[in-house]
Amino acid sequence: MNGNKFLIIDDDPLTRQLLSDILCSIEGYRTDEAPNGMVGIQEVKANDYDIVFTDLTMPELNGLGVLKEIQKINPYLPVVVVTGMSTIDVAINVMKEGANDFITKPFKIKTITSTVERILGEKRLLNRLGLKGNDRESIERLNAELFKKLQNINLLQAIHAELDSLYDNNKIYSAIVTMATKLLMVREASFGIIEDGYLKVKKTIGTKERDIAIGDTFFESILKTRNYYLANLGEKNPHTGEPLAYPFLSIPFVIKDVVFGLLSLANKVDGSSFTDDDISLALTLVNKTALRIENNVLYEIIYNNLVNSLKALVISIDARDPYTRFHSERVTAYALQIAEILNLSEDEKDAIKFGGYLHDIGKIGVKDRILLKAGPLTQSELDQVRQHPIIGDNIIRPLKFFPKEQEIIRYHHERYDGTGYPEGLAGEQIPLLARILAMADSYHAMTSSRPYRKAMTHDQAIAEIKRGVNSQFDGKILEAFLQTPVGKGEETKKNKPGILESGAENAS
Ligand SMILES: [Fe+2]
Repeated sequence: MNGNKFLIIDDDPLTRQLLSDILCSIEGYRTDEAPNGMVGIQEVKANDYDIVFTDLTMPELNGLGVLKEIQKINPYLPVVVVTGMSTIDVAINVMKEGANDFITKPFKIKTITSTVERILGEKRLLNRLGLKGNDRESIERLNAELFKKLQNINLLQAIHAELDSLYDNNKIYSAIVTMATKLLMVREASFGIIEDGYLKVKKTIGTKERDIAIGDTFFESILKTRNYYLANLGEKNPHTGEPLAYPFLSIPFVIKDVVFGLLSLANKVDGSSFTDDDISLALTLVNKTALRIENNVLYEIIYNNLVNSLKALVISIDARDPYTRFHSERVTAYALQIAEILNLSEDEKDAIKFGGYLHDIGKIGVKDRILLKAGPLTQSELDQVRQHPIIGDNIIRPLKFFPKEQEIIRYHHERYDGTGYPEGLAGEQIPLLARILAMADSYHAMTSSRPYRKAMTHDQAIAEIKRGVNSQFDGKILEAFLQTPVGKGEETKKNKPGILESGAENAS
């Protein structure tokens, strides 16, 4: 028996009975019942209740009347209004009048439980703060507590937003350590991953913790219980083996019931110990981060599976056509050199790495007879070859993972003056990465031999590209290209012509 006692005021005996049954089934709460508002008020005067549940619509004294009477008798007694869905607007108004919460019929046990727990929790907080009357000191303490909670909520929101923007697990490990120091005001924080019986430290602040064997430390018990551990002063610091001079909190990252990492926090700035609120905040942070990491892992698995399947497709195209063998790889390498000079972001470089590799994936939809034709193509054959950017885009589009790669694939045969294909985009309308790839693609095509014509030299190819500025190519991209190792002619010495290119599309 926990001693909490509730009053239920309702003119419907069945509702009273049902609510009472639910409340009494939770941790043995006790209830009194009143069949109307007047009796209810008498009960409130005569007894000490923790919460009053009152129906909203009752004859004589309704829920609002009951609330007002109770506020006169004991303004700190929480009142929960019970209402049907149709009167929910009224219930909200009643809350504005000072009711603590409302629950709707038909009852949901979980809603009732969480409402009761929340109200009792707030009561405990008020008791802890010693708020018995309107004394100024208590109100100020309460305000300070509320202010801190509000700050923490704001911080948690900021943290959630930041975590959601991170896809690299190492960046997440780093972020969580920084965030935890701010959130819990500690001088020391570290995050490590559990691997083969070791804690491999990934990020630290204010401490020089190193990888350690977990055996015989309290970390070992965290792995078993999967619960946080608050070490006492004097206990052995797992990292140093020395007795702890200040409280040390360690929280496990659990993914699919396995402890995957540990966040350890120590040495609070104000010298105090960790409070329940600190621990609850740290747990929120860790759980949110664990979810984020789990999502990233799943994403990586799916992404890698996709990438591998697509690479297998590219290899199958290369196998059909010896002239394109290694073409995708070389084009990607050249495009990356240009991206480097242009200072593109890591995301854009990643898109080039993958999009470059796949740029001709649509050739899978072009017949062998045309793709492998040794001589110049007829107009109808050319038209079919020119479908490959669209076919490639159609292959990648449903995967939804690769919007930038998709642009590279679709637009790598557009020309700066708008006479390219498939859409005839011009100038800056052509996505930047596609303009880069177009130059890398053309340079490699020109400097590769074909069955019916020999490869150009580096200088000839550069002269040809220069002639194509503003018609086929973007002059800004050429400027960057000329600063790359390949643009300076350093690559041609390494890769002699012979790495061949299909005559089909680039003959156009
Ligand atoms: Fe192409």
